[in-house]
Formats: sequence, C-alpha cells, structure tokens
Amino acid sequence: MSPDGTVRHLYVHLPFCASRCGYCDFVTVVGRRGQHRAYVDALLAELELERGVLAPELESVFLGGGTPTFTEPGELARLLWALPPALEVTVEANPETVTPELGSLLQECGVNRVSLGAQSFRPRLLSVLDRQAGPDDVRRAVYALRDANLDNISLDLIYGIPGQSAADLDADLSEALALEPEHLSCYELEAKPGTRFTHAHGAELARQAEAMESYFERVVAHLTAAGYRWYETANFCRPAGLADGRDLRSRHNLAYWRGRDYLGLGIGAVSTIDARRRRTTPRLGVYLAALAAGEMPPREIEDLSPDTRRSERVLLGLRLDEPLGVDGLESAVDWGAVDRLERLGLVQLRGEARALALTRQGRFLGGGVTAELLA
Ligand SMILES: C[S@@+](CC[C@H](N)C(=O)[O-])C[C@H]1O[C@@H](n2cnc3c(N)ncnc32)[C@H](O)[C@@H]1O
Ligand code: SF4
Repeated sequence: MSPDGTVRHLYVHLPFCASRCGYCDFVTVVGRRGQHRAYVDALLAELELERGVLAPELESVFLGGGTPTFTEPGELARLLWALPPALEVTVEANPETVTPELGSLLQECGVNRVSLGAQSFRPRLLSVLDRQAGPDDVRRAVYALRDANLDNISLDLIYGIPGQSAADLDADLSEALALEPEHLSCYELEAKPGTRFTHAHGAELARQAEAMESYFERVVAHLTAAGYRWYETANFCRPAGLADGRDLRSRHNLAYWRGRDYLGLGIGAVSTIDARRRRTTPRLGVYLAALAAGEMPPREIEDLSPDTRRSERVLLGLRLDEPLGVDGLESAVDWGAVDRLERLGLVQLRGEARALALTRQGRFLGGGVTAELLA
C-alpha cells in the first residue's frame, strides 16, 4: 500500500557517461547518445505511472548519475521542464561538461543547485581516478555556473586516492575552498574488491586505508577552521550566518538521513515509500522496453520491518549534527551501550525529550559507535 500524494522528494537517475572511471560502482552506461531521447521518454512515462504518490509540491528533486550533464542538452532540458517543481532542484555535473551554455540551460530550467564532481585538484591523482577533467576544468566550471547566476554550488572531493599524501589532501581542500563553494562533500575512496582498479592499486589502497582516519580528521579540521558547518559525516556547508541566512544543507540528502520517503526514477534507482524499498532494474534495454510498452519496469522489492526501519533511522540520523529524538525508536537502541559510550565521551543523551547525539569525538569514530549503539 502506498500513500497517495505524500512523497516530497524525487531522485532521477541519468546513467550516461563519456567514459568510465575505474573506481566507480554506480549504474552507468558509456556513450549511447542515440538512446538519450528514448531514455528521457521512458523516465517521463515512469513519472506518469508514479505521479499519484508524489505530493503536489515537492521539497527536492535530485538528478544524479552517471553524468546528468553528459545527456544531450535538448533531452536534459525536456526532462527538467517536465519534472514537478521543487524548492531545491539539484543536478550533478562533471566539470568538463560545464559550458556557459549549459550553465544558462540549467538556470533557465529551474535548477538552483549544482553538485560538481571535482574529486581532486592534483593532475596525477585525477589521472589515477581516470577523470576526464583537470583542475582548470573544475575552476572554469565553477566560474561558468556563477556567471549563470547559480548561487548554490557543491563540490565533491575524494580522499584516500592511491598516491595521495596528507599534503596533497591539504592542497585539495585549500583549492576547493578558494572557489568558495556553498557546500562540500568529502568522501573516502571506496574500492570494491575484485575490480580492475583494486587489483591495479592493491598495496597502495591498503596503505591509504590505514591513513583514512587521520585524513578524515584533517578534512573536518580544515573545513571547520574555514567556517564551514560539519552537518553530516561527509558533508559541509557555509553556515546560515555566512550565507545570507540561507540553510545550505542539501534538502534532498537530509531527507534520506531523516528517514523520509522518496521516489526514484530511472535504471538502478531506489525508492523508499511506506516501509517498502524498491530497486528498479539496472538494465537499460529491459527498462526502455518495459516503459515503451506502457508497463512498470522490473523491480526488486524489499518490505522493511518496523525493526529495520527503526535501526535505519538511528544509523542515518546519527550522521547528522542535530540530535536524534528517540521517541518511538527506543527498541532500536542498546541503552547499556549508551551509558558506556556516554562515559567514554562519545555519545550524549539530552533533555527530557531524550535526544541522542554523537559528540565530536564520537562523530570521528562514526559508524563504529553507531553500530555499538544498536540493540
Ligand atoms: C554518483 S557520483 C556521480 C557524479 C559525477 N558523474 C562525477 O563523476 O563527478 C557522485 C559522487 O560520488 C563520489 N564517488 C563515486 N564513486 C566513489 C567511490 N568509489 N568512492 C568514494 N566516492 C565516490 C564522487 O565524489 C562523485 O562525485
Ligand atoms: S563520470 Fe561519475 S558516474 Fe560516470 S563513471 Fe565516472 S565517477 Fe562514475
């Protein structure tokens, strides 16, 4: 049973990329310019089939990839015009695809937030990652977006890249800050076992894994010293005081971390609606054929038990810098562990409403502390 008209967050997956980066594990398809139009047709057909679950006004729309900005510009514009309006409309962009024309297109189509995949500013590290863009492309992209009046730009960085030193990381953070982004996401590199990338960089990845905790602390120290708010484990934004009163946290990602329902369209997209999680087929041909025939594409479905929902709420909620109200979540928490971790200065239990939060030290240990807290 899905509630009618209640979902306020929409994710749309645009899988096409110019080439494949060795470390990437997302659902992507290289090239296929000839299929961009059919894919947008399919997305719009899927949207029509699902329209009933969406609220009349959305809070966020997020176009992720793949490389949404590699999609044929006419098709990208057609899609953006057809999507329901939302308070926050984010598009992920790769730097080498950003031109003044693309900036104007995004702005004219109602996009008000761009998430740019910089990853690093060191040419040698970008080449390890198989990235197409160089550091100058990242800068040019930011200037082009600013010229198009896009005033909410997020930069993605990756750390723990084979061959990266602490000094390289510091330089990346400084170069990113010099561009004055409203938001930064800093991810530790995840390398899937068994991939060519992991095979090629095995020893160096192991060395980087050992340094990861100190890199994480370095990232937080550097960005908070520059005045950014560390509002989620890997996410930072300019605080409202430095942003004309705007709350620059990602509304869309906040919805995930707060356990809100969301609808995902496109191949490999995940939806969570009314305690049911669905994952659409990652196979492009199967997806296109189903929607061309007016049918829902195949999906994996997982019904989430109340226990699973509560555990997820605790796991995700404690990633944020705001306390998590535990009303209704009591059975998901090991209260003995809370006592123990409180004495160690890793967790705080606040107020009568019983809100749980990790301390700064607890946030550095992150997932480890949260895992211990779960009943
Ligand atoms: C879905 S990706 C796509 C964005 C865009 N195509 C790009 O490459 O910049 C979004 C972000 O996830 C991060 N990411 C992707 N693969 C990763 C990995 N294996 N480990 C850590 N972060 C990763 C990158 O920072 C990337 O910008
Ligand atoms: S461009 Fe982005 S989505 Fe595409 S392969 Fe590279 S990392 Fe993955």
